[in-house]
Amino acid sequence: MSSLKAVILAAGKGTRMKSDLPKVVHTIDGKCLVDYVIEAAEGAGAEEICLVVGYKHEIVKERIAHKEEVSFVLQEEQLGTGHAVKCAREFLGDKGETLILFGDTPLITAETLRRLADYHRTQKNTVTVLSAKIDDPTGYGRIIRDEKGSFVKSVEHKDASEKELSSHEINSGMYLFDTKELCEALGKIKPNNAQGEYYLPDTLAIIREKGLKVDAFALESPEDIEGVNDKEQLAAAEKIIQRRKSCL
Ligand code: UD1
Ligand code: MG
Repeated sequence: MSSLKAVILAAGKGTRMKSDLPKVVHTIDGKCLVDYVIEAAEGAGAEEICLVVGYKHEIVKERIAHKEEVSFVLQEEQLGTGHAVKCAREFLGDKGETLILFGDTPLITAETLRRLADYHRTQKNTVTVLSAKIDDPTGYGRIIRDEKGSFVKSVEHKDASEKELSSHEINSGMYLFDTKELCEALGKIKPNNAQGEYYLPDTLAIIREKGLKVDAFALESPEDIEGVNDKEQLAAAEKIIQRRKSCL
């Protein structure tokens, strides 16, 4: 089996947390948000993990429990998710598979990532994005499918047409990529969009245009992919983690 690496994006400030601390070091049950994500990646078989850090990176490096098990790269300016992954270019190498995860989604589990990997491999995809349908998709990137249900593209809310906005299937921000194709596509993305950012989802269109297989793996429930953007969502995630613990 080919090698599996994981890149966890954690450079953002998390303005809506209304806190001086970087978002990913807020805790649930005494553990930093990003530590939950590291554990899920390790549980899914990631052999090497790299954290892309930026805002108050010294605090992130100091506070996380799994600091000895991961490497860090610095993204000095937050120019977008595609740019963040590019910062980890050296870590990625050019072989095997790469999981891309966010540091602010502590509800992701090893089991879900393993299901993503199983699907990716049996379908022989070059990239598989993790998705789910949610009631209110406002603000999220949308997954667009054709009449047959096949994946067509992922479009950001701010760049989407009226019709595209009617899709309730959202891009979770998590992916499994063939590393070589990811790196090649990262070299081609441009910040010509509504936010002037380097979008990681643009790599999907680039890979698809090459004739390679791009697909979305839709979860039955969005629980695992829900992110923490404010104190309310932090409390909601805490409840879910407590419920899961009590089920063990
Ligand atoms: C992103 C996705 C969107 C998806 C959503 C899911 C893009 C362009 N959009 O949007 O399709 O539906 O996540 O939550 O990828 N980060 C960095 N460096 C950067 C930018 C971001 O490390 O330069 C980190 C942030 O700290 C955060 C994560 O990446 O943990 C996501 O960034 P954010 O700006 O929240 O992306 P969204 O706009 O939510
Ligand atoms: Mg976000």
